[in-house]
Amino acid sequence: MSTRKDLAAVTRVRRVLSGELGHAEIRAIRRILWAAFPEGDEGFTEEDWQHGLGGVHFVLDLEGRIVGHASVVERELHVGDRPLRTGYVEAVAVEPAWQGRGLGTLLMRHVTDDVRERFELGALGTGSHRFYERLGWRTWAGPSFVRTARGALPTPDEDGFILVLPTRASPPMDFAAPISCEWRPGDVW
Ligand SMILES: CC(C)(COP(=O)(O)OP(=O)(O)OC[C@H]1O[C@@H](n2cnc3c(N)ncnc32)[C@H](O)[C@@H]1OP(=O)(O)O)[C@@H](O)C(=O)NCCC(=O)NCCS
Repeated sequence: MSTRKDLAAVTRVRRVLSGELGHAEIRAIRRILWAAFPEGDEGFTEEDWQHGLGGVHFVLDLEGRIVGHASVVERELHVGDRPLRTGYVEAVAVEPAWQGRGLGTLLMRHVTDDVRERFELGALGTGSHRFYERLGWRTWAGPSFVRTARGALPTPDEDGFILVLPTRASPPMDFAAPISCEWRPGDVW
């Protein structure tokens, strides 16, 4: 299995609802997420895990073993004042030993196609811009906010780290407009 083409031949991406994941699958996925996100950057947290539940999981199997994962959950983002049914991508990781061989790209191609198919917008928060931009994701240029009971609060630390994916259902959009998400525990974006 030396080339990317060889690897793709023994790799499968499965689409599984949260409620359909088995205990062994959950254990395998959690192990990858905690291994892939370095502790120094705060690491992967239980709140991060919760953020990835309630939607669709993309599980990457290599010769029958799980080596990668991504979730798509539905959120309501507002661009300006316009609410958009958004496919929000969470918990993207490839097992460290298998990184850098095209598997993350393969996984994200499935995720990107799914978001394009089902939502008015795709979004995710990341510092790995290039990895996503090459698949059609764009860095949001406008200021970000979180909607709370006290109104919209700025989230300046997130500015420049939110990527969006226009879909065929997206309205015409000003990429420098304010963008907001609903509040949730943990990282709101
Ligand atoms: C990000 C991640 C999922 C990519 O998976 P992967 O299997 O290593 O990705 P690929 O091998 O398909 O890489 C595709 C390209 O993106 C680049 N790339 C990979 N990770 C990158 C990163 N963190 N930042 C920028 N570019 C990255 C690679 O250099 C590669 O470019 P190349 O083909 O020109 O060499 C994986 O590295 C990972 O799990 N990282 C830790 C967790 C994480 O950062 N998750 C996503 C951020 S929210």
